[in-house]
Order: sequence, then C-alpha cells, then structure tokens
Amino acid sequence: MLQFDLLKTEGHARRGTLTLNHGVVQTPIFMPVGTYGTVKGVMPQSLHDMGAQIILGNTFHLWMRPGLDVMQQFGGLHKFENWHKPILTDSGGFQVWSLGEMRKISEEGVRFASPVNGDKLFLTPEISMQIQTILNSDIVMQFDECTPYWKNGGKGDKGQGNITTEKEARASMELSLRWAKRCQTEFDKLENPNALFGIVQGGMFEHLREESLAALADMDLPGYAVGGVSVGEPKDEMLRVMNHIGPKLPPHKPRYLMGVGTPEDLVAGVAAGIDMFDCVMPTRNARNGHLFTRFGDLRLRNARNKSDERPIDMTCACYTCRNFSRAYLHHLDRCGEMLGPMLTTIHNLHYYLNLMQEVRDALDAGRFAEFQRQFAEDRARGV
Ligand code: GUN
Ligand code: ZN
Repeated sequence: MLQFDLLKTEGHARRGTLTLNHGVVQTPIFMPVGTYGTVKGVMPQSLHDMGAQIILGNTFHLWMRPGLDVMQQFGGLHKFENWHKPILTDSGGFQVWSLGEMRKISEEGVRFASPVNGDKLFLTPEISMQIQTILNSDIVMQFDECTPYWKNGGKGDKGQGNITTEKEARASMELSLRWAKRCQTEFDKLENPNALFGIVQGGMFEHLREESLAALADMDLPGYAVGGVSVGEPKDEMLRVMNHIGPKLPPHKPRYLMGVGTPEDLVAGVAAGIDMFDCVMPTRNARNGHLFTRFGDLRLRNARNKSDERPIDMTCACYTCRNFSRAYLHHLDRCGEMLGPMLTTIHNLHYYLNLMQEVRDALDAGRFAEFQRQFAEDRARGV
C-alpha cells in the first residue's frame, strides 16, 4: 500500500506526503542508511528524536547475516531492529554490483561468492522480491543492474576509452527493464502488501534514461527511482542526468534519487523535482571527522579545534551541539573513544534531516527560490 499526495509545487520542486504501511512520510525527505539493520552508532530512539521518518535497510546484507530464517522468525525487519516507522530496502542489485570481479551477471540473475563465507550464491529478481517480502519493508526496490561510469569498476586507466559506451549502457538498461517486469510479477504473486519502486537506468545518456522511464512508467508502479548516479562520474554529469530526468518522472508518484549526496546535491535534487534521497555521507563522514554545518563543512581533526569551546554549529539544535564543544569532540576522536562517532553521527544526521525540514518549510511558504539563495550564501561563508 502506498499513497502519495502532492501538496504544493514551486518550479519543479514538490512538497508532498507519502503514506506507507508503517506511517506517513513528509517529502522532500532524507532517509538515513541502515544497511545491516542499524544506522551505524545511532539508537532508534535518537533517530526518532532527530525527526527521522524512514530509514533504509539492505536486502543483500540482511540475506547474508542474520539470514532469512531469523528474519522470518521476527516477522520482518521492523521488530528485529525495533524501528516501527517506515523502512525502504534496496534490492541487492547495487551491492552485488559493488562486489566487482567477484560476480557473474546473466539474464537469469547474478552469481557470486558470499563475501562472508565464500558460499556460492545466486541472486535473481524473484529471490530479491522474496527476501524483501520477508523483511516486510514498506518500500521494495526492484532488482536492477547499476550501470557503472567506468568500465571494470574503475580499475586501471581512467581514460576516455574506459567510459561505459552507449551500447553497453543500453544493454544494461534493457536488462534492468526485463528484471523490473520479473520483479513486478513475483511481487504480485507473493501478495506483498507494500510498494514496489522501479529504477530508471541508462547511464549518462539522456535518451536511454527516457526510454527506461517510458517502459517503467507503462508498468504503473507506485514510485520511481533514478539509479546509476554517484557511480564514479564527474559531478556535472550527475547533475546533468538528474536535471534532465527528474522533472520527467511521473508527477503523481514519489521520486527517489538513489545514493545522493552532499547538502548542495539534495537542494539541487529538490529543485529538479526529487522527493526522496539516501546517502551514507552524513553517517560515514561523521565517523571520519567530516562534519556538515550551515556555514560549510568542519574538519574535526584540524588542530585548531583542540581548544575550541564552540559547538559544531551554533545554529544546530541537535543533542551534540546542545551539549558538547568542538574541543571535546576533537579529543574523543584523537583518543578513538566510541562516544566520538556516536555524537558526530547524531549531528550530521540531524543536519541532513533539518535541512530537509527547512526545505519543506520553504516550500510550504512558497519561498523555496529564496531558500536556495540563502542556503548557498550560508554554506559559502565558512565555519
Ligand atoms: N544505490 C545507488 N545507486 C543504485 C542503483 O543504481 N541501483 C540500486 N539498486 N541501488 C542503488
Ligand atoms: Zn548539531
């Protein structure tokens, strides 16, 4: 089940609500990544307190560990990880793709060795739907092939001749379309009560993106994602594809840009008509001392923070900024204390979630264009 209500638009930007089996999501939205059934270092209560409305899980990882028998025993991922609001699961397509040389793709599916114990495994569109049905995720992603920007996973010479060709991108996109149909058939057969999203592929080729979209739109799925971006391409290429295809996605369905991006990318994505985003950037960067703030990015490991009594971001209302100084967080990082990444992750996620709240407020007030100007000006100011 899924209902999407468009509340307001400004240019291509949209303000909406997405009603799922485990609750309502206000869009545009950022979704924290919880690959292994945990948003790394953050308790569900903290996620709730910082306003997270929907989080991600991953078919591939949860299939490897703890495995389907445990997932079945718990009646799905919500109870297992004690998160009772909506969950979106990725299909495993992207993660299997990330295995690089370790996999073999055929029409039927992807054969690969388990990175956990070396077992020979086979993932198909049907198996991905079966796993995601057991997980009972509110949004199920189709099994797809993510077309890389560089051939051979970017290994070796990154010269012009090693960029995925139109012919290769077409073959990959068409395979994803055939897999989308198999996903829809299996999803219906399983009587999955949630919502299946299609994924637009086509590499950096705008006409292939349009072909992919036209075929997926004919399937009348409840939502559409743009995949195959943030796969090693230059930033301007990502923006070109996003700006081209974003506004063309079906207007009365939710639109999801997969694996993107920086705060600037999110605001640009909203301007291109995107409603949903996910990215490991706020969580992963927090663990590396890379912090996002209203006034630009802060490198926690820089020696200048050693005695700085200010919070990460004076304008941030997160638990970390309300209670701790840059000096203390710098100290925790230097000592390798586990509280360090916990507190920085809370801040970075709060920053992303609050950014989207500000975007929604601006759209509600009909001043998104003004928000974009102020956002760019503030971020350029510097910490
Ligand atoms: N995450 C980021 N990009 C992609 C993609 O193209 N496909 C899938 N399934 N997941 C993604
Ligand atoms: Zn903060």
